This record gives sequence, C-alpha cells and structure tokens, in this order.
Amino acid sequence: MLIKQWILIGATSDIAKALIQYNEFEPHALMLCAKNSALLSQMVDDLKVRKPQVQTNPITIDLSQIEKVNWLASVIQKTFTEPYGIIYFAGILDDDETASKEKIIAMNHVNFLFPMLLFEEIFKNPSETKCQSIVVVGSVAGDRGRAKNYRYGATKAAIDTYLSGLRQRLFNFGIHVLTVKPGFVKTKMIQHLTKTPLAATPERVAKDIWKAIQKRKMVIYTPWFMRWILFILRHLPEKWFLKIKF
Ligand SMILES: NC(=O)c1ccc[n+]([C@@H]2O[C@H](COP(=O)([O-])OP(=O)(O)OC[C@H]3O[C@@H](n4cnc5c(N)ncnc54)[C@H](OP(=O)(O)O)[C@@H]3O)[C@@H](O)[C@H]2O)c1
Repeated sequence: MLIKQWILIGATSDIAKALIQYNEFEPHALMLCAKNSALLSQMVDDLKVRKPQVQTNPITIDLSQIEKVNWLASVIQKTFTEPYGIIYFAGILDDDETASKEKIIAMNHVNFLFPMLLFEEIFKNPSETKCQSIVVVGSVAGDRGRAKNYRYGATKAAIDTYLSGLRQRLFNFGIHVLTVKPGFVKTKMIQHLTKTPLAATPERVAKDIWKAIQKRKMVIYTPWFMRWILFILRHLPEKWFLKIKF
C-alpha cells in the first residue's frame, strides 16, 4: 500500500526539509510538527508554491514537554481517518561535559521518551489504528558508546532497542517500522564540529529514507557503507576500543 498521508515530526530538520523537496516524495497530505512556528509557516508558504497539490497542516509543539504526548496523539488520530505514516526526525545533540542536567533531560525527552510514549499511545490497539508505517531517524552513535558523544548515543541506543521490540509486536498487524541510522550528515546539528569524516548530504539521506520506506526495509544505515564501518566498530574487543581516539 502506498501511503499518501505523512506526519513529519521535527519538520524543520534539514533532513526533513530535503525529503519534502525530494521530487519522488509526493504525499497528498502532510502534517508538519515543529517547535519553531515562524519557520513552520515559512515552510507551509514555500510548499504552497512548490507542491500546491499537497494539503499541509502545521502543528507547533515542543517535544521536550512529554506531557504533550497525549494531546499530539489525539490530534493525529482525529485528523487522519485514512492510512498514514509518521516520520520522526527531531533530535538534540547536546553532548559535552558542560551540558546541564536540564539539557541532558531535554535530549532524552526529544530523542527517546517522546517518540516512545507517542507510539505507545498510537499503537494501544494496533488493529484499530490507521497508522501503517513509522520511521525514526536514530543514529550510528547508538551502536557503540564513544567518549565524544555517549550521552547522545545512549538516547539513540534506547530508541533503537524500543523500535526493535515495537517492530516485532506490530509485525502481525502489517505495520511497518523503519529505523534509520545515519553517519555524519551535513546539517545544522553538526555545524559546530570541526571533523565530520564521510559526512553525507541531507538530500542523500532523505532519498535513502524514501527508498527504504518503499521497500519496507526495517533498519538502514545511510550512506550504506556505514553498516560495514559500524559492523567492525561493534565487534572490536573492549580493550582495543578503549585505545581508539575518534
Ligand atoms: N546531522 C548528523 O550528523 C546526524 C547524524 C546521525 C543522526 N542524526 C539525526 O537526524 C535527525 C535530524 O537531525 P538533522 O541532522 O536534520 O539536524 P537538525 O536540522 O538540527 O534537526 C533537528 C531537528 O530537531 C528539532 N528539535 C530539537 N529539539 C526539539 C524540541 N524540543 N521540540 C521540537 N523539535 C525539536 C529541531 O528544531 P529546532 O531547530 O527548532 O530546535 C530540528 O528541526 C536527528 O534525530 C539527529 O539526531 C543526525
């Protein structure tokens, strides 16, 4: 089934913007959820010009406020009476030794707790939901904790494990669950970093995501070669891993 109604959560992310502009992504309806309402209205205005056939519905929400989960779930369920999919792009990378507890909590909320609680609400009764596909942008950082970003990596490992279980639970209902694991991507999230080896463009990642949705893949690394780099990293014995500096 080709899903034509999509909810993009974290719609102002550079990867989400690249997907919206990708010419093979042709939804009938888009619900765009983001924190920055001014950017959101700009995106809606731009969409009216570029893809006038798409019906857009902007929702302003701060995903660090997990008390908003039920509200968002009910807005989604009331809005969509036909099959729809959710792509969760939102993420925070606040990972240096000076990050405050508040920042670390917000990072855990946005990267893990909010999507987990949202999907638990949406899939309370999987046979009744119209949600037929969910996609979450995780990260290769969740595959193995590194000194440079292990607090962020832990949130991505948590969502990865959660999605693995959810995928198994929803399998018999025919609901598709895709975990996306990008390496570095040239977006505003990493513009402060000086070294971003093998960084991909948001356009490349968006295209990989769309192809994976169509092929109903379950886990993808993007670009593809990150799978093999992470395979090696995951299997390095801990005593060797300790000595690597990257
Ligand atoms: N860039 C990379 O190298 C890389 C690598 C692996 C995985 N990823 C993942 O890819 C996803 C997309 O990130 P990106 O690279 O496209 O970077 P990005 O452009 O900075 O996107 C991150 C998005 O998350 C949103 N967000 C953050 N906190 C939020 C909150 N409290 N409420 C609502 N929205 C919030 C941001 O909105 P505001 O701008 O309004 O805060 C922004 O739109 C993230 O999950 C990230 O972890 C990125």
